[in-house]
Amino acid sequence: MRPPIAQFHHKRSDTRGSAVGLILIILVALIALIIAICVAWRYASRWCALPCPWWLSWTLENRYIRALADSRVLLDRMGLGVGMRLLDVGSGPGRVTVAAARRVGPSGKVVAMDIQLAMLREVERRVAVSGLTNVRTMLSGIGEGKLECDSFDRALLVAVLGEIPNQQLALQEIHCALKPGGILSVTEIFPDPHYQTQSTVRRLVEQAGFQVVRTFGNFFAFTINVLKLDQNGRAATVIDSADSSEKPLHHEQRHNIAESRPGR
Ligand SMILES: C[S@@+](CC[C@H](N)C(=O)[O-])C[C@H]1O[C@@H](n2cnc3c(N)ncnc32)[C@H](O)[C@@H]1O
Repeated sequence: MRPPIAQFHHKRSDTRGSAVGLILIILVALIALIIAICVAWRYASRWCALPCPWWLSWTLENRYIRALADSRVLLDRMGLGVGMRLLDVGSGPGRVTVAAARRVGPSGKVVAMDIQLAMLREVERRVAVSGLTNVRTMLSGIGEGKLECDSFDRALLVAVLGEIPNQQLALQEIHCALKPGGILSVTEIFPDPHYQTQSTVRRLVEQAGFQVVRTFGNFFAFTINVLKLDQNGRAATVIDSADSSEKPLHHEQRHNIAESRPGR
């Protein structure tokens, strides 16, 4: 028979063991619930607009995102320069918008488009605080046909594509809104519940008439730059993300751009 003190210690370690077990079960259940919600959200977004709510925007403004897809890096990748006109589709609270407006300067222009008023209000607040005057906000869903054709040098889709139910309509409107020789830069970041793989992005952009020119990054965060050719299927301008010191993953068909036509 155990002495009373040993019995007491035995009972205490039993209680501690079952408390740790319970905490583990709760943790696993919570993680499973979060994964189930993300999967359901991802699939439901194929049929209706279920955008990332404004109170979750912190998930895009933290060290992890800065390390993988910092706004300066994204602007370098797309070759954004002074005086350009940029369309930031699904701007969210303006993480990239404000940096882009600084980069294009007073002679350039940035249009921040989003379907959520709360996001655009935050963009306007940040723009005002930064003293910028070259940003216009636009409350609209991409694909609704509100953009003028041939009016932008660059367009951005950062962690947005998977949230758009009709991706083809959206990409076609961006294609029309870009000037010939303009670039759309698509970035996807894992584990965004709406993350799109590189092959999906390539398939979608090519269907919309773009030509893939450059890919940066890795599985966890990649950027694909795609080009709008002119009516004759030629690149209207020489394009490069010259500011970028990064090595591209693929540097594709650079020599063939002038000869290639969409659909060939
Ligand atoms: C995950 S956030 C990304 C925000 C920003 N691009 C960034 O990287 O910080 C996605 C944003 O896209 C917007 N969005 C979703 N569907 C859209 C659509 N069809 N047209 C325009 N914006 C859309 C959402 O409202 C949300 O603000």
